Amino acid sequence: MTTSPHITVLLNEGVEALAVKPDGIYVDGTFGRGGHSRAILAGLGAQGRLIAFDRDPTAVQAAGAVDHPGFEIIHAPFSSFREALDARSIGVVDGVLLDLGVSSPQLDEAERGMSFRFDAPLDMRMDTTRGTTAAEWLAEAPLAEITQVLREYGEERFAYEIAKALVAARATSPVETTGQLAALVEKAVRTREHGQHPATRTFQAIRIRVNQELEELSLILPQVVERLAPGGRLAVISFHSLEDRIVKRFMRDESRPPQLPARLPVRAADLPKPRLGLVGKAVRPSDAEVAANPRSRSAVLRIAQRMEC
Ligand SMILES: C[S@@+](CC[C@H](N)C(=O)[O-])C[C@H]1O[C@@H](n2cnc3c(N)ncnc32)[C@H](O)[C@@H]1O
Repeated sequence: MTTSPHITVLLNEGVEALAVKPDGIYVDGTFGRGGHSRAILAGLGAQGRLIAFDRDPTAVQAAGAVDHPGFEIIHAPFSSFREALDARSIGVVDGVLLDLGVSSPQLDEAERGMSFRFDAPLDMRMDTTRGTTAAEWLAEAPLAEITQVLREYGEERFAYEIAKALVAARATSPVETTGQLAALVEKAVRTREHGQHPATRTFQAIRIRVNQELEELSLILPQVVERLAPGGRLAVISFHSLEDRIVKRFMRDESRPPQLPARLPVRAADLPKPRLGLVGKAVRPSDAEVAANPRSRSAVLRIAQRMEC
């Protein structure tokens, strides 16, 4: 089995979005293999700080190779952002980057159980030290919950058929490997999408559920707005429409004045000011980047800046 190194997506664009100041305090919520972190650190002076998070122990181990006095890695979900800043007596930060989803090593290491390309135990956890595995979840989840997860997180047309096949199969023997899951899904999905394995949507959906990926995102965004210094930047790279929708709506809602009922006797100047301003339009990888790294093709970077209030 070969594991590819992680190729950082939108490396320059993601770091430029933060407009790094040498003495600033930055947060990389998704260290991965440190591509963005290293580029941020290159812009920091001796007083600058970078606090990075990753919930994957192998990413945390990789962070041990980073040599910078202002760098720290935290093995925790990024939704513990506020708690981590409080624990370090950090009031506000100058920029936060989130490069969501999974890293290439997570997808390519068979034993992580995230891919139907290898037959392996059905784990799918980013943090292999805690939480429920995909096999454990599939053993217990009711039919309706499995259907809903496949429909919402995988946008899978055959969600009910797949869920029914899973529930029937587990009544005789547990579904414990990626191979078993992929075979069951292949049988239940009646049509084929061009260039896509029939289990792609199911694997994505279960991975998102196991790692609570959308909840994590919804939890961190408001914390970041509270703790960004005026002028501080939030930059988020998403890889699918479910994540991007959350980011887009959040930034939009935070960047416009509150919507009040018409004819309310309030002057515009008396309304609370929006906390964020949008910075440019959504950024997508160039053709050259997509050609060099096909995994970048669905990436979207959105940037916002904390306003003075
Ligand atoms: C796309 S990779 C980041 C790659 C990184 N920017 C680089 O250049 O190497 C995403 C990483 O974020 C981590 N991750 C995803 N969601 C997380 C969360 N809620 N909390 C902490 N880490 C998370 C994953 O374990 C993975 O290592």
